[in-house]
Amino acid sequence: MPDSAMMPGIDFTGRVAVVTGAGRGLGRAYALLLAARGAAVVVNDLPGEPTSAADEVVAEIVAAGGRGVAVTDSVATPEGGAAIVHRALDVFGRVDLLVHNAGVVSASTFADQPMEQVHEVLGVHLLGAWHVGQPAWRDMEKRGYGRIVLTTSMAQFGHFRQPAYAAAKTGVIGLVKSLAHEARTKGLDITANAIAPLAGTRLARPEAKELWGDLMSPDNVAGVVAYLLSEQCQVSGQVVHAGGSHVAHGFLAQTRGWAARATPLTPEQVRDHFAQACDPAGYETPADANDQMRIVERTVLG
Ligand SMILES: NC(=O)c1ccc[n+]([C@@H]2O[C@H](COP(=O)([O-])OP(=O)(O)OC[C@H]3O[C@@H](n4cnc5c(N)ncnc54)[C@H](O)[C@@H]3O)[C@@H](O)[C@H]2O)c1
Repeated sequence: MPDSAMMPGIDFTGRVAVVTGAGRGLGRAYALLLAARGAAVVVNDLPGEPTSAADEVVAEIVAAGGRGVAVTDSVATPEGGAAIVHRALDVFGRVDLLVHNAGVVSASTFADQPMEQVHEVLGVHLLGAWHVGQPAWRDMEKRGYGRIVLTTSMAQFGHFRQPAYAAAKTGVIGLVKSLAHEARTKGLDITANAIAPLAGTRLARPEAKELWGDLMSPDNVAGVVAYLLSEQCQVSGQVVHAGGSHVAHGFLAQTRGWAARATPLTPEQVRDHFAQACDPAGYETPADANDQMRIVERTVLG
């Protein structure tokens, strides 16, 4: 355990942050906290009438003595994502911190979900991470430093009437793990993690808002995101659940499994050993795809 009395507070002075979907809800809380801790913040959200919610958040940041600019391009297209990141480069000269938080939901059972809806949900949550992530990553890679937080959800465990949303949010997990792997391989001080938030916003479950009251404040997630974005945090490629002041680590695991160590493996052998293959005792949490191969090799080859 680090002795927090010996460690400096978390401060983003000199850092430039981009937060998507930051006009309201969780993104707004992230933008306000980062600005209050010294970051210059590019606040992204969709255009609104007469002004975008992003402009209102920037006004709050500036009124509190911070630095921020609004950008109302959509994360759902490569051009929109590039425009958001280029605003940061044009105005503040760099991007150190990226939070891709923008989100939409649309409820439908699998068979009934129109493909336009599937494309919209994947476009904002999952492809949006490429649209803003690629131009931000290029700038971070040039300077060898960056902190990225993408947004997953408890829907990764499966969600009734949210098949596209759950798939997009689970895709984000594979992406942060791959970014973490790439940064490690290239020796870059760039981290990428996925936050699975819970907060009382318009996307949240009404019954949880009722039951949890103030604990459902987005501020209780913002502190976790700010830690993941800090220089002090070296955690990468992980899923962090946060909400109601609770913080937890989610991980992908694999059972030790069973191997016949003979060819061919018959369906009957699989049937007879399936319970053993699925026995969770001594499960492993592979660090990456190569590590997963090593675990399988140990079981098959001994
Ligand atoms: N609130 C929760 O409990 C919860 C739970 C799990 C995951 N999440 C995720 O957290 C993120 C934030 O959600 P929230 O609860 O604050 O919702 P919210 O609706 O309050 O905020 C989402 C913001 O994203 C913006 N947005 C939507 N499409 C956009 C686009 N194409 N380009 C730019 N901005 C766009 C919206 O205008 C909105 O301001 C989302 O990714 C959501 O899926 C939230």
